[in-house]
Amino acid sequence: MDEILITYGQSEAYPFHMPGHKRQTIQTMNPYQIDITEIDGFDNLHHASGVIDELQQGWAKLYGCDRAFLLVNGTTCGNEAAIFAATKEEDVVIVARGCHQSVYHAMALRHLIPEYIMSNVSEFGVAEPISPQQVQEAIARRPEATTVIITAPSYEGLYPDVSQIASIVHAAGMTLVVDAAHGAHFGIAGGYPDQPIHQGADAVIVSLHKTLPVFTQVACLLWNSTSTIPAERIQQYLGYFESSSPSYVLMASAAAGLRWMESHGAKALEQLNNRLQKFRSNLEGLEHIKVSLLPGWESADKVDPTKILIRDECGHFSGEDIMQWLRREAQLELEMATPTYALAMTSVMDTEEGFERLEHALRQLDQSITNTQQRKQQQELFYQLYATMPQAVYSLTQAQDMTSITVAMEEAAGKITADFIHLYPPGIPVYAPGERLTKDGLSAIQEAIEQGYEVNGITTDYTIRIIKE
Ligand SMILES: Cc1ncc(COP(=O)(O)O)c(C=O)c1O
Repeated sequence: MDEILITYGQSEAYPFHMPGHKRQTIQTMNPYQIDITEIDGFDNLHHASGVIDELQQGWAKLYGCDRAFLLVNGTTCGNEAAIFAATKEEDVVIVARGCHQSVYHAMALRHLIPEYIMSNVSEFGVAEPISPQQVQEAIARRPEATTVIITAPSYEGLYPDVSQIASIVHAAGMTLVVDAAHGAHFGIAGGYPDQPIHQGADAVIVSLHKTLPVFTQVACLLWNSTSTIPAERIQQYLGYFESSSPSYVLMASAAAGLRWMESHGAKALEQLNNRLQKFRSNLEGLEHIKVSLLPGWESADKVDPTKILIRDECGHFSGEDIMQWLRREAQLELEMATPTYALAMTSVMDTEEGFERLEHALRQLDQSITNTQQRKQQQELFYQLYATMPQAVYSLTQAQDMTSITVAMEEAAGKITADFIHLYPPGIPVYAPGERLTKDGLSAIQEAIEQGYEVNGITTDYTIRIIKE
């Protein structure tokens, strides 16, 4: 395992994927030397009052908020702690269906009753963030809900109107939790959407590791004193969900990352934005391959320009084909692919060489495309996977405690899934436990598997765990 990592790290493969440090060393440190536990003088993450507290204050200052809780188990543990802190057992919560699996795990453990808001899937096969109007409608359907949970920005970088959503949520006397895992670089420089913590959210969780120069798993939960969630409750639940042996290697990386961001962050983000504009304009003339911002999502407050969605507008290449072509022909490793696009993630640590290699490869890919079929099929597949809300027969909590059996996929239509079924990435459920599987849904899942997508919840020999009835 360690050997293949070292080989990959030393290879010519260029990372257009997380983590945001892109293998650039910003602080030389030997992990064996600095890997300690809570010895005297080194503070304690769960009761920070010394060097870790200073570090947390530094991140809070960078984001312009009152507190930043440093997390070493990713946004995953931050989402879980925030949702537990915001709710009580069996509360009704309003949830964007496109939320990450950690939100579902928290709902299952907290026995919450979700009222889902479905995303609109755009003509490009991209799930759009939910709108203020959808939130308003969901509140009208479930006025007894206590909390609204949304993702902003989405994996693809689309950003909803958080300010307006926060006003609507607060007017209804509810709490707003925002999973901003992909927006750790927001709120630091112009040209990007604002940081949701500046827009009225009660708790915002950012994965520092996804887009900033810090190690994987490092994240922050951002909080303001105006929040409807008491800080003590957040701290309490972080104690439940986060390791009692937080890694000092990760925390040291958060310290080095903070120093780097304080001294270079704003300027580097500005330069990155300019480089991305140049990248997109250089490739404007390509015949098939498009890297432009999605129509309707071009303005700086609605989109994160650092996410490059690469589409073949004639439909010959699926996202997975594009990703594989770039890996094979150009040694460029992307973040993920869907039936309609591949996603290259960029950050302040990307190099000129990286951008030039991607530009060059996309020109070559464009020239290699001649066939003009298939686009419709690819879009329909994605639409079938994500655009219809399945029927929930049992709650998440009921489903996880019921007896399950394993059946062949072709026998599962009409049955109720005991597992989450999702494409990974992005890890958004096509089905959640307790929901009824349909023939169309299962055939779309089968097609996704056949096209090479990683689908969790279905075994390699096409079996599925269903609830025994
Ligand atoms: C929207 C979203 N939220 C939360 C997470 C989990 O973040 P972390 O990896 O920091 O635990 C992810 C992971 O990709 C994500 O895409």
